[in-house]
Amino acid sequence: MTEAARAADGPAPAPGRAPAVVDLIRAKRDGGTLTAGQIRWLISAYTAGEVADEQMAALAMAIFFRGLNRAELSAWTDAMIGSGRRLDLSGVPAPTVDKHSTGGVGDKVSLILVPLVASCGAAVPQLSGRGLGHTGGTLDKMEAIPGWRAGLRGSEFARLLSSVGAVIAAAGEDLAPADRKLYALRDVTGTVESIPLIASSIMSKKIAEGTAALVLDVKVGSGAFMRDLARARELARAMTELGAGHGVRTTALLTAMDAQLGRAVGNAVEVAEAIEVLRGGGPADLVEVTLALAREMLALAGIAADPAAALADGRALAKFRQMVAAQGGDPDAPLPSAAHARRVAADASGWLLRLDALAVGTAAWRLGAGRARKEDPVSPGAGVLCLAKPGDPVAAGQPLLELRADDPARFDGALAALDGAVAIGPQRPEPGPLIIGRIRQPGGRRRARQ
Ligand code: URA
Repeated sequence: MTEAARAADGPAPAPGRAPAVVDLIRAKRDGGTLTAGQIRWLISAYTAGEVADEQMAALAMAIFFRGLNRAELSAWTDAMIGSGRRLDLSGVPAPTVDKHSTGGVGDKVSLILVPLVASCGAAVPQLSGRGLGHTGGTLDKMEAIPGWRAGLRGSEFARLLSSVGAVIAAAGEDLAPADRKLYALRDVTGTVESIPLIASSIMSKKIAEGTAALVLDVKVGSGAFMRDLARARELARAMTELGAGHGVRTTALLTAMDAQLGRAVGNAVEVAEAIEVLRGGGPADLVEVTLALAREMLALAGIAADPAAALADGRALAKFRQMVAAQGGDPDAPLPSAAHARRVAADASGWLLRLDALAVGTAAWRLGAGRARKEDPVSPGAGVLCLAKPGDPVAAGQPLLELRADDPARFDGALAALDGAVAIGPQRPEPGPLIIGRIRQPGGRRRARQ
């Protein structure tokens, strides 16, 4: 047994006696546990550039296979929060509550939910990162609105939160910087899909953001990070426990992501659809998920209000316009549109059984709506409009999808992504539930539907 493996059950390393990283890697590789002190030291040294990427990558792989126990996960998350600044929103005059989605195709819920919940009396502090891959990012969608800016300076975030009550903004460099570095490393070392690493990554950023309460939308299905329900539930439990342990009241909803949410997938097209919902219309699935999350957020904030009424009577739309204008956006400006469009038609008549979310998300991404590397630009007008949804009757030759791109050379790659994504059959499919389950933090009441 190595010295570090023996120390793993003991206290933090004595000051000035940093453990050898290779011993920590071996300890985790062999199924041991790391102490809070070892974890604190490791994350801090890694953030400062004193631990080599290859060693952190090896440790991430050991965690991928061995996991982290509750105490390790809590210490890991603490250390990630402590690598930067935890915002203090205690001066905000309304109860703060945020939402985080693990990412889905056509997931424009934040654009509606943030102003909606704020219009009911809460303050919603949403700090986001940029989208990578097929699920797109909230900031990219908002940036399709002419003039709107994601970067806020210094105290602007808390000031807007107090005056408007709804802020969507880019997370600053000092928000959990250890996660920024570690996530980039996990991305290229096949270690993203580890439940403790995902849970600590998401929760460190949300806890550091300073919100008092948080609702997690854990997506499950072909277009989601978590393809199966058991793993989605495990992730939701880990995150709600971390929230509870760090004083953030946290609830998770498990929601379906086998088909895209709503009909629009992209940036400007999703903004347009979000505005439709804020005007009291929009696709039923998008409205259902948004209202379910809004009810959870308002319950955690202790506000008795009906979010459906705020959508119907224009309060949420007015708050959206105020939120956009407060960050330089023009809510009346026309949204950008792509220069070229191409339609995909049904090849048979019957019922649309499947329109695979991952394929639609990948097609939108290849059309230019998403980026492959974080420094790539996105096309605000590119994307996919789904003209039929699973469960709809369709006729042969009827357009099912409209692809939009600035560069027509992109259509071939998008069409290739859609190969095999559509299934049409003679029997009407039984719709599954959109809200699959709910997980409250430990000590809270738990209810799960499925
Ligand atoms: N999103 C995050 O912020 N972190 C992860 O690890 C995975 C998804």
